[in-house]
Amino acid sequence: MDPVLYNDWHPVALSNQIAAGAMLATDLLETRLVLWRDSGGVLHAWEDRCPHRGTRLSMGSLQNDALTCPYHGWRFGKEGRCIHIPALPQAPLKAQVATYHVQEQYGMAWVCLGTPAHAGPPAFPEFADDQLRKVWCGHYDVQSSAPRIVENFLDMAHFAFVHEGILGDKEQPVVPDYTVETFDDPEYGSGVWAKQCYAWQPQASRSATGGSDIEYTYRVVRPLTTILTKHPPGTIREAIALFTQPLTETSTRVWIIMALNDFTSSYESMREFQDTIFLQDKPILESQHPARLPLAPGAEVSVLCDRMSLAYRSYLKQQDLQYGVIR
Ligand code: FES
Ligand code: CO
Repeated sequence: MDPVLYNDWHPVALSNQIAAGAMLATDLLETRLVLWRDSGGVLHAWEDRCPHRGTRLSMGSLQNDALTCPYHGWRFGKEGRCIHIPALPQAPLKAQVATYHVQEQYGMAWVCLGTPAHAGPPAFPEFADDQLRKVWCGHYDVQSSAPRIVENFLDMAHFAFVHEGILGDKEQPVVPDYTVETFDDPEYGSGVWAKQCYAWQPQASRSATGGSDIEYTYRVVRPLTTILTKHPPGTIREAIALFTQPLTETSTRVWIIMALNDFTSSYESMREFQDTIFLQDKPILESQHPARLPLAPGAEVSVLCDRMSLAYRSYLKQQDLQYGVIR
């Protein structure tokens, strides 16, 4: 397993999907996970696999802060240790479920399967801004690698084609030059960002009433996370964070959190706006071959306005990412 991703934090669910006394099954890096919340509100992330015969524990039941396996009824307490074997009550209790680091941030559950290389999830300081409303979009499941999805989010030249009439205009497909820099900031974290990106957008957001010239920044703060900010001339301030949950190397769950100062549009209409855009990207992403992102320069043909994509590929190389890429 890729040590970079194994030791990083990944989004796996919305916090409010898991009430006290409830379980939720998901996958991360080919590992089956069961998330469950105990009666004290504490979230647990375990391997969703009984150490007895490999059954999914999430198919069993959760009672009194213990999980019972559906196959032979073995019971596992808070620390993942077996506390009861119904078929042989006097048997030594040495079975142990694998447990993982879990924490909650940005209204989501984040899991690290290995030894955390970072104190927590990627920095998203706009989330803490009370002047910005938070909208959780997705999730979206995509049959492609997380790096392909992040790269698509950084790509401006597709607006006029994939998002015509919303984020782009076929009559104005030219991408003006922009700046790419690495950064290291106490608030924003470190990584690479693109600044002074300009695009003419017929409908830049749910509340836009006409076209406008939008100034963008994009920043990559972890191998599988990117955040864009929009600075249109009007009044909408907006940050959109794209967090990816790598299920396998070539299948990914995408989570988007918007932080924006639109307090008038309905919550659902803002989610639908993002659904429309993402569902336009999805078939393109699923058609890209190979599904893993090739990092070697020259593996795919690039032009000057792809420089943010190229900077992202160099960043992944320098981070020594192995998973979801072709080195
Ligand atoms: Fe879980 Fe036997 S497989 S108790
Ligand atoms: Co797109």
